[in-house]
Amino acid sequence: MIIKNQHADLSRLSTMGLPGYAAELWQIADNRLLPEVITQLSAQPYQVIGGGSNVLFIGDYAGVLIQLTDTRLEVIEQNNDHVYVKVAAGMNWHAFVSHCVQQGWYGLENLAAIPGTVGAAPIQNIGAYGVECAQVLHSVDVIDLQSAITQTWSKAQCHLGYRDSIFKRSDIKGRWLITSVTWQLSRHWQAQLDYPDLQSLRDIKSLTAQQVFAQVCDIRARKLPDPTVLANVGSFFKNPLIPIHQWQILQKNFPNIRGFVVDEQQMKVAAAWMIDQCGWKGQGRGAVGVHREQALVLVNYGSATAQQLVTLAHDIQLSVWQTFGIWLLPEPEFVGDAAQWQHLLQPPEGFTNAAFYV
Ligand code: EPU
Repeated sequence: MIIKNQHADLSRLSTMGLPGYAAELWQIADNRLLPEVITQLSAQPYQVIGGGSNVLFIGDYAGVLIQLTDTRLEVIEQNNDHVYVKVAAGMNWHAFVSHCVQQGWYGLENLAAIPGTVGAAPIQNIGAYGVECAQVLHSVDVIDLQSAITQTWSKAQCHLGYRDSIFKRSDIKGRWLITSVTWQLSRHWQAQLDYPDLQSLRDIKSLTAQQVFAQVCDIRARKLPDPTVLANVGSFFKNPLIPIHQWQILQKNFPNIRGFVVDEQQMKVAAAWMIDQCGWKGQGRGAVGVHREQALVLVNYGSATAQQLVTLAHDIQLSVWQTFGIWLLPEPEFVGDAAQWQHLLQPPEGFTNAAFYV
């Protein structure tokens, strides 16, 4: 079934709750209808959305928003070691992770309680508490929204990186749509407890995947605002990757700086720490603000406009740039008037950073 709504309320379609309307919203409950959807779209502008937990609507949207709501799940292969599960893009992510833990299919328990859908997970290669979706992804089924051709892309073809994949590339984005994702889950559980917040679990004898799942749910509930209670899209900025030599200079000037080793050449700096050091944590500015438990999360107290949010984000970028010489890049996807948000993508010309770091 294809459910079509006109004048769809955008504040309900993104967990940031910014106001606006889309000309149309089409919800597709069965992926097999996609060729028909493509025919009906003809030349209209369109945009595909998932659960709305990583998208920001900037003003009204004059085209068709497409949302896949197919939630089928199928075990396509299994052996003594692995289970291969194919899940339609519209399935809620947390419901899927929870199902896997109950079934004894392991590998996703550290990714519990992340808002969004299964189909959106590979796009930004969701990651938390030491695990990334890349570690258990097997392949994705995609459809070309121009020709209706379907293909299966292996994990390698998805080019997964930190909060990144081929689906963010301009020639792929908006053209190839993920219809289902196949996961390679393990029958033998191995705890991933490297992340500082989980290290206390190392002392528990015969620790189970259910306990890690519960602990992750608990940490997230404590540190991250529930978007149904306080509107937000999770991390507003990515943790920047910087060369080791820049990290070493920063460390000299800021001995408490937080970061993680990526490889021999790069460090990932904790953006939350830098924003926090600049004094933003818990700061409100009218209807928008910085969350009091996690400085990386911007919140809408109820009546925020896109302009207020973008202005706050830009001011945070400017102060981090001035203090640390690092330009934070936004993490969510923007839909709508680029003129209103593209200045977030690079530092303003002539605006000086802390020159002694570079
Ligand atoms: N920190 C501060 N102040 C804060 C928050 C954190 O100084 O307000 C420090 C912490 O003490 C820690 C460091 O910054 O040393 C990193 O903080 P945290 O462990 O909370 O993780 P994060 O790097 O801020 C990332 C992801 C989150 C994910 C967590 C847990 C990104 C952009 N964000 O946040 O993902 O839940 O790690 O793995 O990579 C999301 O993408 O929406 C998201 C919530």
